[in-house]
Amino acid sequence: MKRVLSGIQPSGQLTLGNYIGALRNFGKLQHTHECFFMVVDLHAVTVPQEPAALKEQSEAVAALFIASGIDPAKSNVFMQSHVTAHAELGWLLTTLTYMGELERMTQFKDKSSGKESVGAGLFTYPSLMAADILLYNADLVPVGDDQKQHLELTRDLAHRFNTRYGQTFTIPEPYIPQVGARIMSLDDASKKMSKSNPNAGSYIAMLDEPDVIRKKISRAVTDSGREVKFDPQGKPEVSNLISIYAQCADMTVQEVEAMYEGQGYGPFKKDLAERVVAVLEPIQQRYRDIRGSGELHSFLRQGAERAAAAAQPVLRQVKEKMGFLVF
Ligand code: TYM
Repeated sequence: MKRVLSGIQPSGQLTLGNYIGALRNFGKLQHTHECFFMVVDLHAVTVPQEPAALKEQSEAVAALFIASGIDPAKSNVFMQSHVTAHAELGWLLTTLTYMGELERMTQFKDKSSGKESVGAGLFTYPSLMAADILLYNADLVPVGDDQKQHLELTRDLAHRFNTRYGQTFTIPEPYIPQVGARIMSLDDASKKMSKSNPNAGSYIAMLDEPDVIRKKISRAVTDSGREVKFDPQGKPEVSNLISIYAQCADMTVQEVEAMYEGQGYGPFKKDLAERVVAVLEPIQQRYRDIRGSGELHSFLRQGAERAAAAAQPVLRQVKEKMGFLVF
């Protein structure tokens, strides 16, 4: 069975962008693949985190994985920091990564721009992400569009290692949705919808109350026209809303356009809000059940044990090939 691996940072509220771009596909892939899904807490601390908030968010993200349909009996759900092989292989791959490669990463440029002091971990972040993926010899990595460049670096590092030390790593493929790979902000369609945006109206959090979702969508920026037409260049805001609609309703973009032909933005936005609520409300209900059940820690413990068992032989092989004394 082919392997799938992905991760999400516990660095704030998960958004509808995380769900449509990545999380939604996690649950789908588990039926046909052996899956590893982690809460990447080691990545989250590459920017300052308040300890109590980090702990809370880590549990929240793990619970949202399960609430979104990942079955912890079928898939391996775990905290990145619980499998120490990630940090170890991360270091080894850092020694294989060139400064120039890391300097080119747009996520690093975005997150460091305008900052007076930037942590070294933010810079070497992509080498750790490569370790996450290569440690399990993952074939497929479901992610949103913004992680494409990190995936390319991962593939380059795998190839570099294999060339230098002999065939070791599988070269992973990104798995990026055709529609919704980059959900944009509700207040500015030139920016990605992001949990780190200080304006909460710019994103829909997966745990937003239904009425909050309705309000945010009704206030979402649109152009002054009235045509529900998918045209990312000419009508970026409406196109973003159509992408969200298509994903939440399991329809194509063309079907959504046809459904609202000649109707204007009002009815479209109203229905869109209901479509989003219909997707998120059951997830929120399951989320509350999971958090209340007290079962989360045992799922995570079990997931980490299974992940560590899969990771250890790969790490050992890497160390042997690099010339470490391995007993
Ligand atoms: P993170 O935590 O920023 O985001 C998690 C996933 O959500 C996707 N995503 C989006 N997709 C569509 N529209 C958006 N507005 C949007 N915002 C976020 C991201 O593309 C991502 O798939 N570096 C990764 C975490 C990571 C990882 C890994 C991923 C660490 N190790 C190994 C895959 C494999 C990140 O920061 O994702």
